[in-house]
Amino acid sequence: MPVLKDKELRIVGFLCNWCSYGGADTAGVARATQPTDLRIIRVPCTGRVDPLFVLKALFGGADGVLVSGCHPRDCHYSVGNYYARRRLEVIKRFLPILGIDDRRFEYTWVSASEGQRWQEVVTDFTARIHKLGQAPRLADASPMLKIAELALSSLHALGSNLSAPLDELKAAIKAKLPDLECVIGWQKGYDGAHAVPLFMKTPEDVDKLIWGPLNVMNPAVYLPDFKGRKIGIVVKGCDSRSVVELLQEKLINREDVTIFSLPCEGTLDMGRVNEKLGRYTKIDKVNFDEASVYITADGKEHRFCITEYAQGKCYGCVTPGAVLADVVFGKPVPVSPGKFTPPELAMLDSMSLEERMGFWKAQMDRCIRCYACRNACPMCVCRDYCISDSRNPHWLDQEATPENKLFFQTIHAVHLAGRCTGCGECQRACPVGIPILALRQHIARTVSELFDEYKSGMNQNAVPPLLTYATEEKNIHERDL
Ligand code: FES
Repeated sequence: MPVLKDKELRIVGFLCNWCSYGGADTAGVARATQPTDLRIIRVPCTGRVDPLFVLKALFGGADGVLVSGCHPRDCHYSVGNYYARRRLEVIKRFLPILGIDDRRFEYTWVSASEGQRWQEVVTDFTARIHKLGQAPRLADASPMLKIAELALSSLHALGSNLSAPLDELKAAIKAKLPDLECVIGWQKGYDGAHAVPLFMKTPEDVDKLIWGPLNVMNPAVYLPDFKGRKIGIVVKGCDSRSVVELLQEKLINREDVTIFSLPCEGTLDMGRVNEKLGRYTKIDKVNFDEASVYITADGKEHRFCITEYAQGKCYGCVTPGAVLADVVFGKPVPVSPGKFTPPELAMLDSMSLEERMGFWKAQMDRCIRCYACRNACPMCVCRDYCISDSRNPHWLDQEATPENKLFFQTIHAVHLAGRCTGCGECQRACPVGIPILALRQHIARTVSELFDEYKSGMNQNAVPPLLTYATEEKNIHERDL
C-alpha cells in the first residue's frame, strides 16, 4: 500500500548497485516504511546513467525521476559519480526549456549503510512529486506558434563586407594549392542568390570562390571525412570554432589542415530571404552595398538590409574573425563587450513552462523528421551509428509523434552539450524553419555558467567539461530533497 494517501504516481529511480541499491535494501531489511511509487532500475554506477535515460523516462510518462549513487569519493569505479554529477546537473537545468519542471528530476548520494537516509530521500522525493501532481504530457499541451523578434542591435557591425580582400585570399589559396588535396569554400549556387560548397582543386576552381553574407553554410562539416589528408578550408569566425572543436576532439589533425579566413560581418537568414522573394522563376542579378544585399528576381528588386535579415546567431556574434587561422586578410571587425541572449532563446526564456511545452508541441508537429539538422551539424560525428537510427537499443520508434520528434531533438542537443559551437547549421538546414538552435544555445549557456564561462571551440587545447570531471565543483552544489 502506498504510504502517501493519494493515488500512486510513476517515479523511476536509477540506483547504483554498490551504494544506493544497497541503501534501499538496508532500509527494506530494517522494515523502514517507504512510499511505493518508485520503480527501481539497478545500474552498475551513476556513471552508467546516460542523461538520456532521464529524458526517456520523462518522455515515456514518468512523473518523476531520481538518480542515486555513492557519495563523492566513494564510487566503486573511483570517478563514475564525478562524471555523472556534471551530466546530471546539466540535464536538470535543461528540462525547463522543454517545458518540464526541473523539480521532477533529482540526483543524490546514498551509501549502502544509510538505510534511514534512503527512507528519507525516497519519502521526500515522492512527496515532492505528489505535490507537483501528474506530469503534463506533450500530447495534451495546447500548441502555440510564436516567432522570435529579431533584435536589430548587434555586438558587432553587420554588413556585406564589401571591402573584404577576396583577391588577396584567392592568391594565397592558389599559392598553397599544390600542397593540398583541395580547399573547401563557397561558390555561386543554382542561382546568384544562393551559395553552395566549393571544393577547390585547381586555380580555375579558386576563381569561383565567393565571400559575403550569402556564405551561410559551415564548411567544417566536411573536415572529418578528410582526416589524415592535407586539406584547406576557408572559414567565417563561427566556422573556425567548429574547426577548433574538431581539433579538441581529435577528429582532425592540426598539421593536416590549413585555415584561411576573412572577417565576417554577418550572414543572411535564407529562410526569411526566400520567404520575401516568394515564388520566382529567375534571379536576374545580385548586388551589394555596405549594408544590404539587393536581389532582383523576375525583374523586381528586393533589398535585404543585413541588420534586419541576418541569422539570429549573427546578432550576438563575438567571433567575427577566426579563432584559429593560418592565413588571415582584412581588418578585424570590432566587437563590443557584453552579454547577449540570442533572440529565439530570449523568447523561450520569457515563456512559462506550459507555454514552452505548447511551443515545442507546435514546432514538432511541423517537423518532417528528415534529419537535415543532424546531417548539417559539424559536431554530429557518429552518423553511421546514430542512436536515433539504432534498433538495439531502440531509443526512437518510427511513429511521427511530437514526443518522438522532440526526443530526437533532445538527443541531438544533449550529445552536443559542451561541444556545440553555435554555428546554427541545424536550424539553417531545417526545411520547415524550426528554431532548434535554441535548445543547443540553452545547454551552451548552462555549460558556460557551470564551468568557468567555458565556450566550445575557442581553445584547441581545452578539454570539453563534460568529457572530464572535478572532485570539488565550484558551481554544482548538493541540493536538499
Ligand atoms: Fe556507485 Fe559509481 S559505483 S556511483
